[in-house]
Amino acid sequence: MFSTLLEDRVVDADLAVVGERIDAIGGRNPPGKREIDADGKLVMPGGVEPHSHLAQLSGGGIPTSDDFESGTRAAAYGGTTTVMAFSAQHRGTSTSETVTEAMERARLEATVDYALHLIVTEQHDRTAADLAEVARIGITSMKVFMTYDRLKLAGADLVNLLEGARSAGMTVMVHAEHDGLITWKRRQLIEGGRRDAMAHAESHSRLAERAGVAEALALAEALEMGIHVVHLSTGDALKEAEAARSRGVRATVETCPHYLVLEESLLDGPIRETAPFMSSPPLRGARDRAALWRAIEAGQVDTIGSDHAPYRLDAGKLPRGDKTEFHEVANGLPGIELRLPLLYSEGVTKGRITVSDFVRLVATNPAKLFGLYPRKVTPAVGSDADIVVWDDAERRTVTIDELHDRMDYTPYEGMTLTGWPETVLLRGRMVVHGGHDVLRPGGGRFIKRKPQPAKEMHR
Ligand code: URP
Ligand code: ZN
Ligand code: ZN
Repeated sequence: MFSTLLEDRVVDADLAVVGERIDAIGGRNPPGKREIDADGKLVMPGGVEPHSHLAQLSGGGIPTSDDFESGTRAAAYGGTTTVMAFSAQHRGTSTSETVTEAMERARLEATVDYALHLIVTEQHDRTAADLAEVARIGITSMKVFMTYDRLKLAGADLVNLLEGARSAGMTVMVHAEHDGLITWKRRQLIEGGRRDAMAHAESHSRLAERAGVAEALALAEALEMGIHVVHLSTGDALKEAEAARSRGVRATVETCPHYLVLEESLLDGPIRETAPFMSSPPLRGARDRAALWRAIEAGQVDTIGSDHAPYRLDAGKLPRGDKTEFHEVANGLPGIELRLPLLYSEGVTKGRITVSDFVRLVATNPAKLFGLYPRKVTPAVGSDADIVVWDDAERRTVTIDELHDRMDYTPYEGMTLTGWPETVLLRGRMVVHGGHDVLRPGGGRFIKRKPQPAKEMHR
């Protein structure tokens, strides 16, 4: 017997796929040309990755190790069939050039279906019209940074940009950390002789996140628009989001597996051992991890994104080897392949969340928030047959040699996880099975999305 996960319930029912779509759920189906035996397994929709950096430069100008090919391949091995990645505009480059280039790379390289978010780093007179143009081609979400010198926007520029996004029907994701507090603290630490990874965490303090999130929420409230706070790492920032929601602000929240399972003390030690764990926001302590899990259990976290930002040890992480100082390290952790296995193992297997919560966090909610629903995710008649057969009893120990990204380390090395994808179907085609794949660059399809009227951008 196996279990099929529908949006609101788990049933024991066969799925029939014809061509690229789901043709029937339950009932008596004629024998299929090909049948997959899911006995004892969970049949669930393919994951939707809402947050990944592929073929992109870091805040300091360092390229990610993964492009659309390796990033989407790794995603597929982890049970994700739709990947959302960024098209990052750099100052002095137009949004149309930025988007054209990313669309072309993704078209040639992506091995699973994909959609793009824009990153915007400038605000000028034409920006609102540029955003409307980008939305027309089907890129209807964007990220804005409140910190990082090469990316950040603040003050009236930020407000005007948000207003332009709202008019264009774009869902806005915000990297919400208070740049003033971070810069001030970082200078103090450097002047005091600090060069270590923990100094990075001290400058990207819990308070800096809370202040950044509070500001972003206040702007959304003033502009009466939705806002999606990404990679949230602290219980205090989460309280800000809850308070804003209770005032009627359409705030949604993402957290990432690394904030749920990795401990801040990994940043304590020589830079060679700690740089692999550096991200912004940084890893936090047990209190914040417990607060995030509680929030997940209470339904206060909307999406789990990997924030896959892969910088290798031999490239972005240790540009000057053992002499590398914390402010020279490319921030970000890889995690696109392990997003589902980590949440399943730590969440479902350990009894913190149900399988329905799991699917909602890794697939349904990201699809709804970013306008991919119901084409993606719902195992409903007529939706794309992106299906994962999940083996909830499979136990594996994570090692970099068995992952499919182009990284030279994984922050989860040695962790044993229970619950892994066994078979992955992309639009009805079996693309991963038993450790092998038939994924091909260019095999992924761009999912064109519709602009979202501001009133509909709600939880
Ligand atoms: O440290 C991180 N998260 N790097 C990736 C870029 C971002 O801010 O999401
Ligand atoms: Zn960010
Ligand atoms: Zn990110």
